[in-house]
Amino acid sequence: MIQARRTVLITGTSSGFGLLAAVALARRGYQVYATMRNLQKQERLQVACAAANVKVEARALDVTKPDTIAAVVEEIETRAGGVGVLINNAGFAYGGFFEDTSDADFRDQFATNFFGLLSCTRAVLPGMRQRQHGLVIQISSIAGLSGMPTLSAYTASKFAVEGFSESLRYEVKRFGIHVVLVEPGTFKTDIFLDTNRKNGAGVDNQERPYYQLYRNMEKEFMALEAKWGQNPERVVRRIVKIVESKRPKLRYIVGTDARIEGTLKKLLPGSWYEFLLEKLVLDKFKNE
Ligand SMILES: NC(=O)c1ccc[n+]([C@@H]2O[C@H](COP(=O)([O-])OP(=O)(O)OC[C@H]3O[C@@H](n4cnc5c(N)ncnc54)[C@H](OP(=O)(O)O)[C@@H]3O)[C@@H](O)[C@H]2O)c1
Repeated sequence: MIQARRTVLITGTSSGFGLLAAVALARRGYQVYATMRNLQKQERLQVACAAANVKVEARALDVTKPDTIAAVVEEIETRAGGVGVLINNAGFAYGGFFEDTSDADFRDQFATNFFGLLSCTRAVLPGMRQRQHGLVIQISSIAGLSGMPTLSAYTASKFAVEGFSESLRYEVKRFGIHVVLVEPGTFKTDIFLDTNRKNGAGVDNQERPYYQLYRNMEKEFMALEAKWGQNPERVVRRIVKIVESKRPKLRYIVGTDARIEGTLKKLLPGSWYEFLLEKLVLDKFKNE
């Protein structure tokens, strides 16, 4: 039982928060199953582990492929008595105005960010319930609390994560299982790289009315991210604290930008918040 409590399964550890959290938790003595959909990408993780002088169990897991989830969870049940902590971290973002984004793009976005997270959660709950102990950490986003133009597929998937997780928290608390949402702002990981993010099907079509506006916004956002993107270790420190907390809260907003956004959204009348966002995000590019 003790072994299960200190066993962590993390999705999406080939880069970013997932990789750093795997190393940080292994350093604190947890047995970490660091999963990624393509094990050929494990070198970065292994280099980071070697530098920290820790070991993790790297396994193949694609959150959109239920057989890969079942195989890893089964192995952990057999070897360690079960998953004590699940960190649903795998995710990516679609960019583009809604009209330049297809239904297939939305389904693809939800397949990973929402249904993938759902499948992993479903796979570990029976064991956690049986052991009357467990922690499920959902890496959501501040975009799960506030809509953002050009990110409708991503924000929709994170809003879904928020609603699902808040509801689930009530259902499983009496079995000793905590469900927690982490809502980061903008952090320097691989999520904004061309290799990881995707664009809506119509974004590259120069005939589209949104073409230039999107390109301008994309350029500006990339420059802002390069200048102001925060150190992902800050999110990882929060994750470690949550794992070590006896009574974790439902929500943790992480990052200066996210805290400002979250506070404004909570305190300002809706129309004021909307006005601010329009001024800051859309109006700037109106005449370009
Ligand atoms: N960075 C930010 O500013 C920020 C802000 C708010 C929320 N988040 C959230 O934080 C989480 C981690 O992102 P990150 O910022 O660390 O970005 P990242 O460096 O791009 O890492 C994302 C990870 O998810 C993996 N992944 C994608 N699709 C997957 C699938 N179907 N199955 C398994 N793994 C998959 C990627 O694997 P591959 O290498 O195979 O693609 C990668 O390991 C995401 O849920 C993201 O939405 C990030």
